[in-house]
Amino acid sequence: MLFNLTDEQKMIRNMVREFSRKVIAATAAERDKTKAFPAENFRQMGELGLMGMMIPEEYGGESADTVSYVLALSEIAYSCASTSVVMSVQNSIVCESLNNFGTKEQKQQFLVPLASGEMIGAFGLTEPDAGSDPVSQATVAVKDNDHYIINGTKRFITSGKHAKVVLVTAKTDPEAGHKGISCFIVPKGTKGLIVGHEEDKMGLRASDTTDLIFEDCRVPASFMLGEPGDGFKIAMAGLDSGRIGIAAQSVGVAQAAFDAAVSYASKRKQFGVTITKHQAIRFQIADMATRIEAARQLMFSAASMKDRKEPYTKEASMAKLFASEMVNEVTARAIQMHGGYGFTKDYVVERLYRDARVFTIYEGTSEIQRIVISNNILKDKRKP
Ligand code: CAA
Repeated sequence: MLFNLTDEQKMIRNMVREFSRKVIAATAAERDKTKAFPAENFRQMGELGLMGMMIPEEYGGESADTVSYVLALSEIAYSCASTSVVMSVQNSIVCESLNNFGTKEQKQQFLVPLASGEMIGAFGLTEPDAGSDPVSQATVAVKDNDHYIINGTKRFITSGKHAKVVLVTAKTDPEAGHKGISCFIVPKGTKGLIVGHEEDKMGLRASDTTDLIFEDCRVPASFMLGEPGDGFKIAMAGLDSGRIGIAAQSVGVAQAAFDAAVSYASKRKQFGVTITKHQAIRFQIADMATRIEAARQLMFSAASMKDRKEPYTKEASMAKLFASEMVNEVTARAIQMHGGYGFTKDYVVERLYRDARVFTIYEGTSEIQRIVISNNILKDKRKP
């Protein structure tokens, strides 16, 4: 590994690796079948400080750097991608947005229980007719004295069912484009916030993905995150961090598929020898390992730029683009190396292949990442 990790970063990686392979891995295959949400695992992850890693200690976090965070997230993804997506959304788009834009009171009330893992959070940006283009969202929030009344439907919301608090974007000035979008903190139990349809997904099955419906949902004006019109900026900044997290999940899942494939190939005999003696398999192993390592370096590079407080939007998109495409290729090759067995549920690579499929889609498709990267290189914004 080229990247120099500090002793503390190595210690965090080793601690999370041990926990993940002992505790998280034990029930991952079963939860893929039953779709059971791993609430007890999240409680333990909260105790280990994994639910708000980059949040200051005064607000219930660990004050860890982003490099430590991506190491931890990769280790969780190695054992269970469903668990890792909840950890990712919680740490980046939810906790970091509150930490960066919240008032002291909002942080005390919401960030402390989120960062310490006492409650799960969700982020509502996407809508039935607004995915890649969130500026065209239809959810509105209308001011009513010292409250806002929110109406609209959010779709594909990670942890929509289990979250106890939701950050939701809504138009407060529908004529003002992205400058008219604001962000609100809405606790579950608020009248008019309804959990709608739950998706039946091909992968990440133990993580719930639901509609959230807002029907005349009244929230105090003091629950607005940031200023009126900050909602799009909050979402984009949160997604920058979130995209490094998707790269980390990709690296973790790819490493798991690679390790499983090498282990299988080292035992499987065909034509009188273990198949690792065949050049066709050896070249697969070399290509997979090289691509995983390249993705890991892009992930570290974007994470360390964020830690140095340098602009990292382009690098986060590069890491997300490359790593998510990589894991789709690596999990497919891992199945190929298993032959017919890889197509069965008896081998972990089948689940990894399904789990990885969404990585090129959520938190901005590969196509959106290419737009972000080229816009940042050319400094000439082309609309999608
Ligand atoms: N950080 C801060 N501000 C940013 C920003 C960033 N990374 N990117 C853009 N902005 C600001 C710009 O500076 C600009 O502000 P000003 O006018 O004040 O200069 C404003 O936002 C608008 O920028 P653009 O003109 O570039 O915006 P656009 O409408 O062309 O959209 C886009 C750009 C990249 C296509 C963006 O819409 C995008 O990222 N789309 C994908 C959305 C997405 O990733 N959705 C995923 C849903 S969340 C999810 O999947 C979570 C889950 O549960 C797993």
